[in-house]
Amino acid sequence: MEDHLKTLQQWVDESQRIVFFGGAGVSTESGIPDFRSVDGLYHQEYSEPPETILSHTYFEQHTEEFFRFYRQKLLAPEAQPNRAHRKLAELEAAGKLTAVVTQNIDGLHQKAGSRCVYELHGAVSRNYCTRCHRFYPMEAVCAGAGVPRCVCGGILKPDVVLYEEPLDQATVEGAVQAISQADLLIVAGTSLVVYPAAGLLRFYRGKHLVLINLEPTGADRRADLVIHDQVGRVLSQIRVH
Ligand code: OAD
Ligand code: ZN
Repeated sequence: MEDHLKTLQQWVDESQRIVFFGGAGVSTESGIPDFRSVDGLYHQEYSEPPETILSHTYFEQHTEEFFRFYRQKLLAPEAQPNRAHRKLAELEAAGKLTAVVTQNIDGLHQKAGSRCVYELHGAVSRNYCTRCHRFYPMEAVCAGAGVPRCVCGGILKPDVVLYEEPLDQATVEGAVQAISQADLLIVAGTSLVVYPAAGLLRFYRGKHLVLINLEPTGADRRADLVIHDQVGRVLSQIRVH
């Protein structure tokens, strides 16, 4: 076993309240592109930058184009959990991991069996009518073309946090509580450039901070262990006792 893996294994063994903080890089091994890698979503050609399309104003003013982008680029109904998602679910089931905090909206942690998941940016599985607030599953938005509508005629909106929109307060509070009580924080698959999500790391008071990411991030200097590798490859080698 490589040295950095031995260290990570030892810290996992010693910990009882592990929290995992992740981003789009956790789902790339499931075939969902991330945002900021060279082949990520933000390096593809659109008439508008994705930050514009994924904004509240754009949703209100160009609803049809929003849904075209959303269906094509953000919905991945066929995606399956990968070995990172599965290992985290295993760690939780073994009573070692207390929470997953994710910026992802794909629901793959829950699909892998994780129960305590704080979805900072919402979830594609939840959609609601902007007029009568009736809830709809992802299928209601996936299916068909154009603007998805409620039986009442109102426009459906995915329960995902768009630019200009605030994060859900209860979700943030739950994430902060879990992070502040963690004895090991593993941060992985995130560029840590999107706030307020990335700012939640400052609530960590535990012993070791581990960072697993293909590329360097602004938090590498703060971390006690930095692994520049695929998160699925790394986590799959961790044994759960
Ligand atoms: P980014 O695309 O900004 O960063 C993903 C990071 O994961 C990059 O640094 C990659 O190098 C790394 N990466 C990719 N595959 C990996 C793998 N298999 N193993 C390890 N690392 C890998 O994605 P996020 O940080 O999640 O927000 O982006 C944050 C937010 O920006 C998203 O939640 C989204 C976006 O705008 C909203 O839509 C509100
Ligand atoms: Zn309605």
